[in-house]
Amino acid sequence: MATVRVAPTADLRPDERAAVRELLDLAFDGRFDDHDWDHALGGLHLIVARDGRPVAHGAVVQRRLLLDGRALRCGYVEAVAVHPGRRGQGLAAAVMTEAERLIDGGYDLGALSASERGRGLYLSRGWLPWPGPTAVLSPGGLLRTPDDDGSTLVRPTGDLPLTGTLTCDWRDGDVW
Ligand SMILES: CC(C)(COP(=O)(O)OP(=O)(O)OC[C@H]1O[C@@H](n2cnc3c(N)ncnc32)[C@H](O)[C@@H]1OP(=O)(O)O)[C@@H](O)C(=O)NCCC(=O)NCCS
Repeated sequence: MATVRVAPTADLRPDERAAVRELLDLAFDGRFDDHDWDHALGGLHLIVARDGRPVAHGAVVQRRLLLDGRALRCGYVEAVAVHPGRRGQGLAAAVMTEAERLIDGGYDLGALSASERGRGLYLSRGWLPWPGPTAVLSPGGLLRTPDDDGSTLVRPTGDLPLTGTLTCDWRDGDVW
């Protein structure tokens, strides 16, 4: 299994931070914007490096999700990506194994918004599509996010009921 380094954003040197951003720009083929980058900062980065360069990355950041009147501490997974030349070697699996360890030991649940490309990876690891509606607590109040209903996946820990409207906190860019 690949060695996964866990580092808070503050511990990444400026050149390491730039190299992670470069990896994400490459892996997402130009579909990774500044908001997406912002969403990946401030928590923990999970990095696999080869020859001194990051080749696989994921981040776990804390968000609050509301469910049935409860404010859940959520480990939200962001910016999972593997260098195009290193795919199919289990590197995303190694990153997710570490993300799941952090989630299971530190949060009420895990959540993420799956890309078409990533969906199979998460489902094969037991992540579940949220079965109910999704919403966001926007500055103007509660807003349904129907476009995110199908792509929002969760990793419940404990006895969290998988019913009701799952509501995320507000942020710029994609809210889920
Ligand atoms: C999605 C991505 C991270 C997968 O990286 P990877 O290193 O090829 O994945 P792994 O080799 O670790 O695969 C782990 C397991 O998941 C499976 N898997 C990976 N992608 C899959 C997919 N799209 N559908 C089904 N299964 C998949 C693999 O077969 C493997 O299963 P195994 O352990 O039984 O062999 C990579 O394709 C990528 O960077 N894509 C572009 C960015 C992106 O969309 N990221 C996801 C954001 S939500």
